[in-house]
Amino acid sequence: MATRVLSGIKPSSDSLHLGNYFGAVKQHIKLQEKYEAYFFIADLHALTTVHNKKQLETNILDIALDYLALGLNPEKTIFFRQSDVPAHPYLAIILNNLVPLGLLKRAHAYKDKLNRGETDQSINAGLFFYPVLMTADILLYQPKYVPVGEDQVQHIEIMRDIAAKFNHTYGQTFVLPEALLPSKQEARLIGTDGQKKMSKSIGNVISIFADEATIKKQIMSCFTDPNRIHPTDPGRVEGNPVFVYHDLINQNKKEVKELKARYRQGQVGDVEVKQKLFQAFMTYFEKPRRLRRELYQNKDKVKKILASGAVKASKTAQKTLIQVINRVGL
Ligand code: TYM
Repeated sequence: MATRVLSGIKPSSDSLHLGNYFGAVKQHIKLQEKYEAYFFIADLHALTTVHNKKQLETNILDIALDYLALGLNPEKTIFFRQSDVPAHPYLAIILNNLVPLGLLKRAHAYKDKLNRGETDQSINAGLFFYPVLMTADILLYQPKYVPVGEDQVQHIEIMRDIAAKFNHTYGQTFVLPEALLPSKQEARLIGTDGQKKMSKSIGNVISIFADEATIKKQIMSCFTDPNRIHPTDPGRVEGNPVFVYHDLINQNKKEVKELKARYRQGQVGDVEVKQKLFQAFMTYFEKPRRLRRELYQNKDKVKKILASGAVKASKTAQKTLIQVINRVGL
């Protein structure tokens, strides 16, 4: 049997950003050439934050368009919507009974909310049980690898704990899947604020498919070296988000090398470095952006791709679910 990979993206906003791309989607596109791949839109997970029907529907379609435009090949890959496969929440309900609350209380997403001043009154149970649904997402397909960015590693560890607990309780059922991460810089892409990882909820993003004016604004407002006041001051390149992005996106390596050297010597202003980044960005994503405009004209095709993906995904998921149902005595 071919080695299998699986991953998902939550449609909690209407456009993928550079962090999603370098942390996850770029890998997914590459891996589909070599492995049997399952990629899905985690729309049930988006319900933790999106409580508006229109918004959710728009986000789902947008993320599907983004994914396809970036190179996901539905001929090779099983591409589907999580909510089209009811086995996901079904397995999650079963697994809930094997998970100590303490394990979920240690989950970063939950702890971060508490640290930001939220309470058990404002945090919904969906967010709390998020790692269990994610466990079900993965175990149903028995992938060898789960290609994700670093922020998902704890979820993968929780998934492995739950799978091991299931095996221990009911007999060997699941082989434990592993996280697959890209390079360190890509696995936790820094945000435009230069502080935290790039994240939809913080808003420190560069969106891949926004209009040019928005992207320009996102790039031009990027933080650089906070200690550099004048363009004639020597600047720091390492960890500087603008250069992190140049390294990943700018295909003109000679230009990047020269910009870095001039920056270190105080011979180039931030504006020029950012303008060059904007140009490099537009070149790097030129084809996907064009492809997305074309796909947008043909939304029915996208819906058909997801529908046919759901049929194939359901077959695999159902097999595992039946095995689980038999094991637990339902
Ligand atoms: P989500 O939608 O937040 O992010 C999708 C993918 O993008 C990666 N990512 C990043 N990588 C590097 N740097 C960043 N700044 C950055 N921001 C986001 C994420 O690590 C992720 O790989 N819980 C998941 C969705 C999910 C899932 C699954 C994934 C649901 N079920 C099963 C794998 C397997 C999430 O919210 O990803």
